Amino acid sequence: MADAAKLGTNFTGVQMSPKDSKKMMEAANHWMPDVPGDRMRMLEERTLRSNEADRIGSVPVPGSAKGMLKSTFDMVRGKSPELLVDKLGERLAYERNGVRLYEAMIAKVGGMEKADPAMVGALQQIRDEEYEHMLTIAHAIESLGADPTAQTPCADVVGVMAMGIVQVLSDPRTNVPQCLNALLTVELADNAAWELLIELSEAAGHKQIADSFVRCKVQEDEHLIKIKSMMRRDLLNDVQ
Ligand SMILES: [Fe+2]
Ligand SMILES: [Fe+2]
Repeated sequence: MADAAKLGTNFTGVQMSPKDSKKMMEAANHWMPDVPGDRMRMLEERTLRSNEADRIGSVPVPGSAKGMLKSTFDMVRGKSPELLVDKLGERLAYERNGVRLYEAMIAKVGGMEKADPAMVGALQQIRDEEYEHMLTIAHAIESLGADPTAQTPCADVVGVMAMGIVQVLSDPRTNVPQCLNALLTVELADNAAWELLIELSEAAGHKQIADSFVRCKVQEDEHLIKIKSMMRRDLLNDVQ
């Protein structure tokens, strides 16, 4: 694994060959794209497809009779329990993925020649807390009578969103600052999502669930501070 960006033979920029770049720009102006349509047609097509498409999955009907009763009760009161279950499912998927991401990061940092035990320890603590959060969410889903093992539509979407992050963390060539950058994206989104989830749970009349999430939010605040400071320290060390 490379530890920092180094100067090397990178030919991607136009400055590498001004003569060829000029020729390339002339060609781009001379030969039009050989596929039919233009920007407007693409816009129309996308709008049409969006209107025609079905939704990404559905929230499953609660498996238990108790859950069914709770859903009916909330529905009668004009609430949408499926929305909360969908968002809870999203958080569960995200936290589970968080555990895997930190596992990959621990392997990367721990395997370095001059591994920093304090950094490895901090990453292990975050990983353990992400796991704890996953269990908290699973418990909340069960308390609503829903099934925490079901993949909800929002869980599906965050899984797709996280694909790039997983690729960055599991690529053997990525270095520590690059992976910390990916983890910063994860923690920023994580933080905002917990904040919203607490608000949603309260608004849906599930105060007990909202209260059980406060501890997770406090820990997520710490995750964000830790990842930000690791990143800053690492980069400043290399720059100075
Ligand atoms: Fe998290
Ligand atoms: Fe986190």
